[in-house]
Amino acid sequence: MWQQRLRRADLHQKIMPAEQAVQYIKAGMTVGMSGFTRAGDSKAIPVALAAKSATQGPLNLTLYTGASLGNNSDGLMAESGVLARRAPFQVDADMRRSINEGKVLFYDQHLSELAEHLRAEPGYPIDVAVIEAIAITEEGHIVPSTSVGNSATFVSQAKKIIIELNTAMPAGLEGYHDVYLPKTRPGREPIPLTDVSQRLGTQAIAVDPERIVAIVLTDTLDSPSTATPPDAETQAIAKHIVSFLEGEVAAGRLTESLLPLQVGIGSIANAVTQGLVESNFKDLTMYSEVLQDSAFHLLESGQLKFASASSITVTAPMMEHFFANLDHYRDRVVLRPQEISNHPEIVRRLGIIAINAALEFDLYGNVNSTHVSGTKMMNGIGGSGDFARNAHLSIFVTKSLAKGGAISRVVPMVSHVDHCEHDVDILVTDQGLADLRGLAPRERAALIIENCVHPNYRAALADYFERACARGGHTPHLLEEALSWHQRFEDQGDMRQKEVALS
Ligand code: COA
Repeated sequence: MWQQRLRRADLHQKIMPAEQAVQYIKAGMTVGMSGFTRAGDSKAIPVALAAKSATQGPLNLTLYTGASLGNNSDGLMAESGVLARRAPFQVDADMRRSINEGKVLFYDQHLSELAEHLRAEPGYPIDVAVIEAIAITEEGHIVPSTSVGNSATFVSQAKKIIIELNTAMPAGLEGYHDVYLPKTRPGREPIPLTDVSQRLGTQAIAVDPERIVAIVLTDTLDSPSTATPPDAETQAIAKHIVSFLEGEVAAGRLTESLLPLQVGIGSIANAVTQGLVESNFKDLTMYSEVLQDSAFHLLESGQLKFASASSITVTAPMMEHFFANLDHYRDRVVLRPQEISNHPEIVRRLGIIAINAALEFDLYGNVNSTHVSGTKMMNGIGGSGDFARNAHLSIFVTKSLAKGGAISRVVPMVSHVDHCEHDVDILVTDQGLADLRGLAPRERAALIIENCVHPNYRAALADYFERACARGGHTPHLLEEALSWHQRFEDQGDMRQKEVALS
């Protein structure tokens, strides 16, 4: 019942259908929408915008969000001329195609940084914020749903605010959020968070109700997670990580509760967290940006004591379980703005163990997380950079092969760099783990070839390295050959030399 959720009576008159609410969004405007990794996104306005664009011509909006949207909203808006520019993250196949065809200009940005830019730069005004809520309080403040993302920043900056009041989301989510934003600079004080479970702010996003121009009622759940279940390779990756961490405990560098964990998005990252369920670690904590199914499995197994994130992105059965047990999880989960969940100051202070996935990495430990063959955008850097540079341990994981073995994900030189060698401590594939801490480039290369490369490519990479070393240099390369594996894949559909591929 929306009446119990819209607790400020004078806002009842602002209720209208999405088709009417989009009158406030005009061609060329900048819009900030809620939504982070498909969680807590606007459900009705993107559809109404697509319809408006179809009848009135391209809207060419600049769209900012927390991260990716669900419900195919990104694809729909990209394909229907709603969008001209997009930031900071997406995962939609149609949006990806529009970006790679140059139709939508994508600004791929560290997830903690957009809010900072919006606050600091006059060049980033938000005309309209569109925010999903589970309730509007007596003060007119907005209670977010399954993500906080950048919503508080969009609300603080926007000239006008449209709220989607979603009655399919349980009212019991109220109390899960901790809304705190850093002050402007100069003169900003340290963010006073020293423990993952600490609360710093408010349970709702404060707003002057005068700026709320429309309230749209919706009743659609988030799109479920698309992470696939663990397979043999991702389980092998998880095992390598668990035994590495056990070694760190045995060596006295970590305790059995480790340090707060951050685990990235996707199937591999989900499988790695799942692998911790079979470990002997206890009293674990998470300080991450997304909670996937595996985080709830860890909470259920009792190994995970507390999880802090910016969103909850889970499969349909896990969403049902979570919603049915909101009181059970209430004291063990908090949702924060992404600026806080990913803040470099906090990541460094807490000493996070960051585990993120790579598309490919190279001989010396540079990581490409975003660009297929160095040119085509996959999803975006997301929060991986926020965590990798500042983590206590920065771990990158990937399967050793892609596309049925036609691609080695360990290559002579990455075709695009998201995380440079200086931000990478540990690399892991299904083949094994390379601990790069304190190693010079030539030492790193030897270890990566030995431990991480698939046997089908090991000899070829060793040969490249040997010939590069003969030529010399601190980080030896054969520049004319460095990207030849990618070129071969472009030309022949296989990174392997032809005679090897046929054998
Ligand atoms: N070249 C070409 N294609 C490649 C490739 C490569 N080097 N490596 C992987 N792929 C393809 C795979 O074949 C797969 O395609 P398919 O679905 O058609 O089979 C797809 O890319 C995804 O690969 P995979 O690594 O198996 O999936 P994932 O779900 O674990 O995602 C990333 C990996 C890197 C795409 C994902 O983690 C990501 O977007 N990371 C950047 C953002 C981030 O790290 N955020 C972290 C904070 S939440």
